[in-house]
Amino acid sequence: MNEKINLLQQKIQEACLGGGQEKIDAQHKKGKLTARERIHFLLDEGSFEEIGMLVQHRSRNFGLDKQTFLGDGVVTGYGTINGRLVYVFSQDFTVLGGSLAEAHAEKICRIMDLAMKNGAPVIGLNDSGGARIQEGVVSLAGYADIFYRNTLASGVIPQISAILGPCAGGAVYSPAITDFIMMVENTSYMFVTGPNVVKTVTHENVTSEELGGALTHATKSGVTHLTYANEIECIQGIKKLLSYIPQNCEEQPMLLPYEPGDEIRPALNTIVPENPNQPYDMKEVIHQIVDEGSFFEVHKDYAENMVVGFARLAGRSIGVVANQPAYLAGVLDIKSSLKAARFVRFCDCFNIPLLVLEDVPGFLPGTDQEWNGIITNGAKLLYAFSEATVPRITVITRKAYGGAYDVMNSKHIGADMNYAWPTAEIAVMGAKGAAEIIFKNEIAAADDKEAKWKEKEKEYAVMFANPYEAAARGFIDEVIVPDQTRIKLIRAFEMLQNKAEKLPRKKHGNIPL
Ligand code: HXC
Repeated sequence: MNEKINLLQQKIQEACLGGGQEKIDAQHKKGKLTARERIHFLLDEGSFEEIGMLVQHRSRNFGLDKQTFLGDGVVTGYGTINGRLVYVFSQDFTVLGGSLAEAHAEKICRIMDLAMKNGAPVIGLNDSGGARIQEGVVSLAGYADIFYRNTLASGVIPQISAILGPCAGGAVYSPAITDFIMMVENTSYMFVTGPNVVKTVTHENVTSEELGGALTHATKSGVTHLTYANEIECIQGIKKLLSYIPQNCEEQPMLLPYEPGDEIRPALNTIVPENPNQPYDMKEVIHQIVDEGSFFEVHKDYAENMVVGFARLAGRSIGVVANQPAYLAGVLDIKSSLKAARFVRFCDCFNIPLLVLEDVPGFLPGTDQEWNGIITNGAKLLYAFSEATVPRITVITRKAYGGAYDVMNSKHIGADMNYAWPTAEIAVMGAKGAAEIIFKNEIAAADDKEAKWKEKEKEYAVMFANPYEAAARGFIDEVIVPDQTRIKLIRAFEMLQNKAEKLPRKKHGNIPL
């Protein structure tokens, strides 16, 4: 018996060494952790149960028969994070560059299937040279098996992808289907075709980092939702993100214990400047409203005219979607519409109520926006809000102009409660532009055109640059003193906590993609 136990222990030791000490040292030298170290830092101590440690590939091609490794380049299993079940796969770059082929893919599919059956998140720690070239088409099949499962799992269980090394070619499409992508600066990159192919095809000289590093995807493409300076911070980020999210679409997010205190926030009374054209930082408004230190911003460096992220309000997990007047005046454009639409849909999938803070001058004009499809892309946000059945509350802090008023979670598209501050201006457009159009002839006929224009601008502003016309029609439920915002929202979200709304029966909607 002892001999047999020894044999097992030898195999376990061998598996734990992955591609061997030399390769582990090389991994560390690049500033990266190994697959197992990552799992160690991610999961509650001692909670990891490995599945498929002894799996090996079956290929005999190109000398692979002499290159077998227990586990086949990916560590898979389950464990807990803060006591909650998660499934995890962690690609091992020390084994054949973490390349994915038949057996490797089967292991990932196995834990995805278990996660679906048991309703718990899947976390993918990606570090791979892509399809294992020696295994040919079975590698491609393996990827497709994963993509298919990613799609079926979408909206059922949360899926999080951390990119901790290379992620190239078709391999990028598994993370792309998951809910959140996280990247680490300088050690991770994602692209469909690498710098060499780019050079051949488009004659552009670009490094891997420039083409698909964390900074690029955080600022230019928006492919990554969160970036971190190192792997440990990234792993902490995964844990923090999960704390706002339920285990699956049938569950509610965790409600943290909360001690009621003084919920009045006087600082909110002076945050909006007297001059309606002067910016202010909407993140200050968010911080005043939500539980202290609870705001977890997503997509921070992308489309900064829109702010999205998770927060807690009296212990309740909420998703915040806010226009940012401090960046491009908070205008709605293609990128900000996409960013917010994706976030709204995630929150709706997983029963996370939505808070919208609105100060928006309208949609961004211009050929660039029109030719790149602001119509279709703006419609995505409109669609996302309209079909969201979670509790939805809007607070208009200042401008709510034109189509953007409708889009930003207006009562007309199903918001449950709509508040406005006394500084709100709810109108078809700004008073200056409106006066120019509707009083065109009067202004043209005046001796002092400038004075006439100002007079008419004021007339329009008195009539419409306020929340009272909308409140009179019930489009706004209450005009509130800003310092009351937090307490009003705490009560309203509590009132809405049992909201049950169903969409009309359909196979699925046809969001304007
Ligand atoms: C087999 C691979 C591999 C792969 C790396 N290795 N990628 N083996 N298939 N795809 C092996 C290397 O041969 C090497 O083995 C070890 O992993 C480490 O690789 P290095 O090149 O030494 O590491 P590094 O210098 O850090 O470079 C990493 C890399 C590079 C940039 C990822 O290895 C690389 O360019 N690999 C090929 C990437 C690729 O073209 N993949 C296919 C993409 S197409 P030894 O034994 O020397 O240690 C694709 C399609 C998916 O993925 C489609 C899905 C639909």
